[in-house]
Amino acid sequence: CILIVDFGSQVTQLIARRVREAGVYSEIAPFNAADAAFDRLKPKGIILSGGPASVHTDDSPRAPQRFFEAGIPILGICYGQQTMCQQLGGSVIPGTTGEFGRAFIEVVGRSALFDGLWKEGERHQVWMSHGDKVDRLPEGFHPIAISEGAPYAVTSDEARRFFGVQFHPEVVHTPDGGKLIANFARHVCGLAGDWTMAEFRAAKIAEIREQVGDGKVICGLSGGVDSAVAAVLIHEAIGDQLTCVFVDHGLMRMGEADQVVSLFREHYGIPLVHVNAETLFLNGLKGVTDPEAKRKFIGKTFIDVFESEAKKIGGAEFLAQGTLYPDVIESVSFTGGPSVTIKSHHNVGGLPERMHMKLVEPLRELFKDEVRELGRELGLPDIFVGRHPFPGPGLAIRIPGEVTKERCDILRKADAIYLEEIRNAGLYDAIWQAFAVLLPVRTVGVMGDYRTYDSVCALRAVTSTDGMTADIFPFDASFLSRVATRIVNEVSGINRVTYDYTSKPPGTIEWE
Ligand code: XMP
Repeated sequence: CILIVDFGSQVTQLIARRVREAGVYSEIAPFNAADAAFDRLKPKGIILSGGPASVHTDDSPRAPQRFFEAGIPILGICYGQQTMCQQLGGSVIPGTTGEFGRAFIEVVGRSALFDGLWKEGERHQVWMSHGDKVDRLPEGFHPIAISEGAPYAVTSDEARRFFGVQFHPEVVHTPDGGKLIANFARHVCGLAGDWTMAEFRAAKIAEIREQVGDGKVICGLSGGVDSAVAAVLIHEAIGDQLTCVFVDHGLMRMGEADQVVSLFREHYGIPLVHVNAETLFLNGLKGVTDPEAKRKFIGKTFIDVFESEAKKIGGAEFLAQGTLYPDVIESVSFTGGPSVTIKSHHNVGGLPERMHMKLVEPLRELFKDEVRELGRELGLPDIFVGRHPFPGPGLAIRIPGEVTKERCDILRKADAIYLEEIRNAGLYDAIWQAFAVLLPVRTVGVMGDYRTYDSVCALRAVTSTDGMTADIFPFDASFLSRVATRIVNEVSGINRVTYDYTSKPPGTIEWE
């Protein structure tokens, strides 16, 4: 396998992802735990990540010196390249200008790293982000690619198989970056490239067994794909030492709660406590119209209910969560200042501290599309795995104004029609998220010979890769008018339908 030494870059997990895409297994270890990881893993290659530090600070992080004497290939990226050069006797100078963003490099030498990929004299686009730069190369090193801002954009010691890149091959803005990393892992390190999600599954199962021993684990299900995949994986590892708790707040979409219950109990035979807390949630939401007040009430009540169920089950030491890597990046921000709260997101964060439980988070290093792949590998039905994201507070934040059972029922019907039409048109997978919103506005209409005075429903559909930014989905007018007609005809309580044309930013995906 490959050992990735993490110096605190925000994109270290992307390196791991590129290595996985090359079909090679890797593990990330923080620089101060790299020694132990090396002994345990006996890697065939090492990648040193980038990071925010400068080698000029006294306590800046280093790679264990013995890694350079182990006789295995090493690839240093950005800060990783700088510390490698300095640790091997070269020098690094503080940059006066720095290079950030798109840059072009020119290949000036041959290298095993470029085999079958880049040739001398070619120019290639890369993504740079650095202040410091290498000034004098260690003995045995030569430049193999240069850029305007970095005469040592790529350097290597071909004999020792050490490579340094000043740019970031792991990000998508370096178009050949994934291939460079694959070249390092397979061609230079000689790894086979036959690692698959099936092996990830097996490795995680072993890890979960080791962590949990014969302890008891509880897992909160939300109806979404992340917690479902985590639960199924953990169940495969430890069987009935796992109990799942599904706090049903009554704010789910049409048929969704039943699907969760039958998937777990019937399809997988996983012990599941289904807590029907609809009345509790709806009573608490009476008269609440402020979006943040709704979110806070739902988040807090969810935790209360979950905690009391956990106590009833008793004796569980571990709490399982379907935390993904993007959730981790957002929580460990390097931006310095506190960021403004746009919305208080509801997830079970905060529970572990309060309940003094240890966390089991088997999906922590994966991205959403990888979780979906793992879900398929575990046999989760396609309609579950490919499902659009659904927010923790559920329909409550899709009903601006007061949330009542009646309004939830109206919205559920409209939303189901909209999604059914999207599926029938074969558009579901092209859309990141689509849903209906029930507005607290009534307008006048005419049906038959009667005047109507009913609610307005807004339809939303967006494309996105991570939910951070989004664009509207450009339906045909005929599609939208078909959905509008069906909703007004079939859902009593709605007499007008509009389509939301706002991208994010400036809008958010959800309305509240
Ligand atoms: P916004 O509305 O902020 O949403 O553009 C971005 C993505 O996050 C989802 N979302 C949530 N997910 N708990 C969640 O787990 C929440 O409280 C929550 N609020 C919004 C939203 O559906 C979109 O995918």
